[in-house]
Amino acid sequence: MITLTVDDRTIEAPEGSSVLSACLAAGITIPHLCWLEADTPADAPAACRLCFVEIDGFREPVTACTVTVENGMTVHTGTDAVRNLQKTALKLLLSVHRVDCKHCPANKACALQDIARFLGVGLTCKPFERVLKEPDVDPRHPVLDYHPNRCVLCGLCVRVCRHRHGKSQLSFAGRGFETVVGYFDADPGAAADCLSCRACLDVCPTGALVVRTGDDG
Ligand code: SF4
Ligand code: SF4
Ligand code: FES
Repeated sequence: MITLTVDDRTIEAPEGSSVLSACLAAGITIPHLCWLEADTPADAPAACRLCFVEIDGFREPVTACTVTVENGMTVHTGTDAVRNLQKTALKLLLSVHRVDCKHCPANKACALQDIARFLGVGLTCKPFERVLKEPDVDPRHPVLDYHPNRCVLCGLCVRVCRHRHGKSQLSFAGRGFETVVGYFDADPGAAADCLSCRACLDVCPTGALVVRTGDDG
């Protein structure tokens, strides 16, 4: 086991694990959206840019999901620099998000709401301008509706589908602001099994994937 100090607490973690994994296992909260428990520091996508920490000896804050624990490491999870980066990352996500929690199936079980509460910020995107995608709902999947303006592009749905089935029914498409997750020319036969699998629905941290009304029995 590796021994490290996090916010003046001594914790232990298995060799090779990430700082994020070590902290979460010790009950230390670090906002994150794109990390899967199976991720190693080498293969974590580091897409959400939320899990910043400061580590003694590092010149700048780093993403906790991509740094491997080391004996004697000293980690700080709540410095001003860390919080500023996390608030900026959250506001950028909210700048392309339709915040309509009352009509969202994820309301009260949403990672964005939890992170906003943890960081002490509202679900506004100021000072950024809010820009939304069209159309608001993409119905190309045979049984699921995808809501691009609720999607944080964490990629968890794409990855859990691939982990479970060897090949993902979902994929990223487009670039920059136009990036979306969807069902593009995947195997139509396999898609019929999506309702019994539901891995993507379960892992999605927001309300971006929804069983189309009438398809859920
Ligand atoms: S995904 Fe979360 S923040 Fe967005 S509308 Fe739904 S509940 Fe609100
Ligand atoms: S649909 Fe959900 S799980 Fe997939 S990328 Fe968007 S927010 Fe993440
Ligand atoms: S969890 Fe580390 S960048 Fe998303």
